[in-house]
Amino acid sequence: MHLCSGVSLRSCVTPICSFPVRARRPLSNSEIMASLSMAPVNIFRQGADEEKAETARLSSFIGAIAIGDLVKSTLGPKGMDKILIGGGREGSVTVTNDGATILKAIGVDNPAAKVLVDMSKTQDDEVGDGTTSVTVLAAELLREAELLIAKKIHPQIIISGWRKATQAARQALKEAAVDHGNDQVKFQEDLLNISRTTLSSKLLTHHKDHFAKLAVEAVLRLKSSGNLEAIHVIKKLGGSLIDSYLDEGFLLDKKIGVNQPKRLENVNILISNTGMDTDKIKIFGSRVRVDSTAKVAEIEMAEKEKMKEKVERILKHGINCFINRQLIYNYPEQLFAAAGVMAIEHADFSGVERLALVTGGEITSTFDHPELVKLGHCKLIEEVMIGEDTLIHFSGVAMGEACTVVLRGATQQILDEAERSLHDALCVLAQTVKETRTVYGGGCSEMLMAKVVTDLALRTPGKEAVAMESFAKALRMLPTIIADNAGYDSADLVAQLRAAHQEGKTTMGLNMNQGTIGDMSEMGVTESFQVKRQVLLSAAEAAEMILRVDNIIKAAPRKRVPDHHPC
Ligand SMILES: *[C@@H]1O[C@H](CO)[C@@H](O)[C@H](O)[C@H]1NC(C)=O
Repeated sequence: MHLCSGVSLRSCVTPICSFPVRARRPLSNSEIMASLSMAPVNIFRQGADEEKAETARLSSFIGAIAIGDLVKSTLGPKGMDKILIGGGREGSVTVTNDGATILKAIGVDNPAAKVLVDMSKTQDDEVGDGTTSVTVLAAELLREAELLIAKKIHPQIIISGWRKATQAARQALKEAAVDHGNDQVKFQEDLLNISRTTLSSKLLTHHKDHFAKLAVEAVLRLKSSGNLEAIHVIKKLGGSLIDSYLDEGFLLDKKIGVNQPKRLENVNILISNTGMDTDKIKIFGSRVRVDSTAKVAEIEMAEKEKMKEKVERILKHGINCFINRQLIYNYPEQLFAAAGVMAIEHADFSGVERLALVTGGEITSTFDHPELVKLGHCKLIEEVMIGEDTLIHFSGVAMGEACTVVLRGATQQILDEAERSLHDALCVLAQTVKETRTVYGGGCSEMLMAKVVTDLALRTPGKEAVAMESFAKALRMLPTIIADNAGYDSADLVAQLRAAHQEGKTTMGLNMNQGTIGDMSEMGVTESFQVKRQVLLSAAEAAEMILRVDNIIKAAPRKRVPDHHPC
């Protein structure tokens, strides 16, 4: 399938200028009309392109379904991973099973495929997880739509059937949601179960208990602020995933200056972004003519004097720690050391921003008004060892909720994927702290929604019912794919699930450890209500949008105008 080069199924368009011109005798009007009727009239600028009705729809379906097929093997606890190789010269390698990461990395040329890619990005930004589910559901809806269109059911009828189905499914999901928001103990258990469910489809699945606890602890520290910025993730090669831990404080991967104190208590921190590198003459583009080396030394002395003044102004802030975004050269470093102040250079931009956030300070670049500058504070700064490296550890910071997750792992790919997985879990948990309702995973919610939609279809007269039934079928495809990915007999399992839900056992879902169906409430396969609802609504909306298309018009590629016209 030409996923990446666009689907080239378009009707043959003959350019208008190719009608036969016979020399000698001018063409009569009727002859021109006759030749025009053979060659279609091209109303678009040359190079522009149009795909109409059936062709347009076909190309949309093919593109969207191909995207669904691409990511669906990653769905569920037994989903597979993909290797993505970057286009750069180094060909960076990413191993992932995160839908959004995969879709972001592939370049697609098919407009419908692009819609799905964008949708998964939005899902990633808004709720952080469910990026694969949403893509697969939208693609399955379109697969169903293709069959209905082949049966000559008009897209508008399908759409109106789908809309009613979405409403019913949404209502069913809402009614099935459980809220433990008022029960502290139960809610923490919910969080832990959600965290475990999210992680179980990812790389961290073998250590999911460890990481689930870690993620919950980190998010609970945030309390109501829900600001994930306060959770800093540091990746350090070496050790194994199980050695990863949560540190209650802030870690900065930098060095303390030579001869300066390595441990400070009750620290006042000045965070700044200023040049501290003028002890060497570095004036570009200007020329200074001197007649002796003594003069050079003089200039150097003057520069040094200036730097000394600057350091004195900085010290007037009553600080014992100075952190600069830029480099600090030897001379100011010595001055700080003499004053007993810890100076940390070259803390990059994100480091400085985050430090300012967690220590409650502000980034400064002028030092004339110490009274106006907001200093950062913390109880203790010391050096700690992680693996082979020394890092600087800030504890007792002003923003009490700040913490750092130190990830350890054998390869950079493992660390990167672990960070993505952890990020997804953190996002979902932060969401759940705000919207405390939960639903069951493992295909349970999808079966529940499918049943309600099927019931609605049975009560609906007319063709819309067919569209509703197809909606239910698409929903049931999610448990089917989860079971398929694990290598079980999906047809059998989904039929069992369907029967169970028909009997009113609404908490039944897939037990992918044993290849049977099981009670999700006992297994603790919990998911966030918010994420599930978003998956349903986004997928339905995107599928509808693609289904509405009956024309694809492509602008002519922009041409480079040659400098000299040949004529
Ligand atoms: C969380 O999962 C455990 C099983 O791992 C289960 O026993 C418990 O009931 C679940 N908690 C909630 C609140 O659903």
